[in-house]
Amino acid sequence: YNNGVGRAPPMGWNSWNLFACDINEQLIIETIDAMDSKLKKFGYQYVNIDDCWSLKSNRDPVTNEMIPDPVRFPRGIKFLADYAHSKGLKLGIYSDVGDKTCQGYPGSANHYEIDAKTFAKWEVDYLKLDWCFVDDAIKAEPWKYYGRMSARIKQYWSSHLLLNLQLVGLGVSKPHEWAPKIANSWRTTGDINSSWKSVLEILDLNKPLWKYSGPYAFNDPDMLEVEVDRPPNKLTIDESRTHFTLWCMLNSPLLLGNDIRRLDDQDRKWAKDIITNEEVIAVSQDPFVKQAQLLYETKVGTFNQSGACTSSNCTWIEVWMKPLQKTQTIAVAVYNRAGLNIKDPKFKAESANIIWKSLGLEEDLKLSVRDLWAHSDKGSFQKEYTTDKIAPHDVRLYSMSGSGWNRK
Ligand code: GLA
Repeated sequence: YNNGVGRAPPMGWNSWNLFACDINEQLIIETIDAMDSKLKKFGYQYVNIDDCWSLKSNRDPVTNEMIPDPVRFPRGIKFLADYAHSKGLKLGIYSDVGDKTCQGYPGSANHYEIDAKTFAKWEVDYLKLDWCFVDDAIKAEPWKYYGRMSARIKQYWSSHLLLNLQLVGLGVSKPHEWAPKIANSWRTTGDINSSWKSVLEILDLNKPLWKYSGPYAFNDPDMLEVEVDRPPNKLTIDESRTHFTLWCMLNSPLLLGNDIRRLDDQDRKWAKDIITNEEVIAVSQDPFVKQAQLLYETKVGTFNQSGACTSSNCTWIEVWMKPLQKTQTIAVAVYNRAGLNIKDPKFKAESANIIWKSLGLEEDLKLSVRDLWAHSDKGSFQKEYTTDKIAPHDVRLYSMSGSGWNRK
């Protein structure tokens, strides 16, 4: 959906994953400041307010506009958009295509026109339009109702439009088949949480969707959980690195969920290292804008339904490939999927073979391999490249380039 906003996936922050409804003007101002001073130079620009920002009880009785909660957002949303813009950043807002938002605040149903006008007046740059409290008519033809809001937005201003479609679900109305015509991104799967299990479930469901992603149009496997401490779950450092890598490979919007005001705290340096690795971010922002595919996996041993190893030892490694803009260059991510339980001794650190043939390339090609997390050149290889040992749930990301081959 080329409305001129964002050819590559958007990068920024959203309040939901960590703060949920516990949001206010001060948090947003401080987050804008933190993004400006710490993250803008890496490409992050959106500060997105999620659910619970408006007055819950009613709209303005005269104008019918939504009203920012006067206690938590005393100076309103336009004030915050202006503040973000004064720092060269952007502000995002949230509503719902149905009657109410998921937390029961006013939704946009029957108010698409006035809400599009209001958000335009406030000069917000991103709209996440959720899918709660939808009536049967909307459920039957979601594209029609989302399409109406999309048309109003186009009429009044231009914003990144994210359709939050997780409840429509894969296979029910197949949002990836129609959403690219009316929106910049669309949720493909259910709500993420900060567990490895959730990351993998979402990843698996997104595997077949690579062909629907391209310039100005992205599958959205949901927001990032790097360093989001929301008990009972928290990703380990390795898991966070893998999650971030895969979301870059998937052309996903990169919306941080952690408290970026505290990014420079000593005990959070690891998270800053992950989300500010420029060579990894470049894979997400690559101008070719192709989503990665799972090319092959190595699965040895026997597993039960919940992914635990039932033989004496098990290995489970996945190899993903994303074509990049530079001719004859690809990004290859390899991660040690192992079992769900990181402490399961039946899974070990493993090295993996990246095999030219399995990437669809000629065996005698010479490819130079660079480790993007470590910023180090590995040399030039033929036929295959063997990685160093990757711990369970950890990842490697390489760029591989050569000459004399045609990318498929
Ligand atoms: C839904 C969405 C979440 C979040 C909440 C807010 O569950 O999928 O991302 O926006 O609503 O209520």
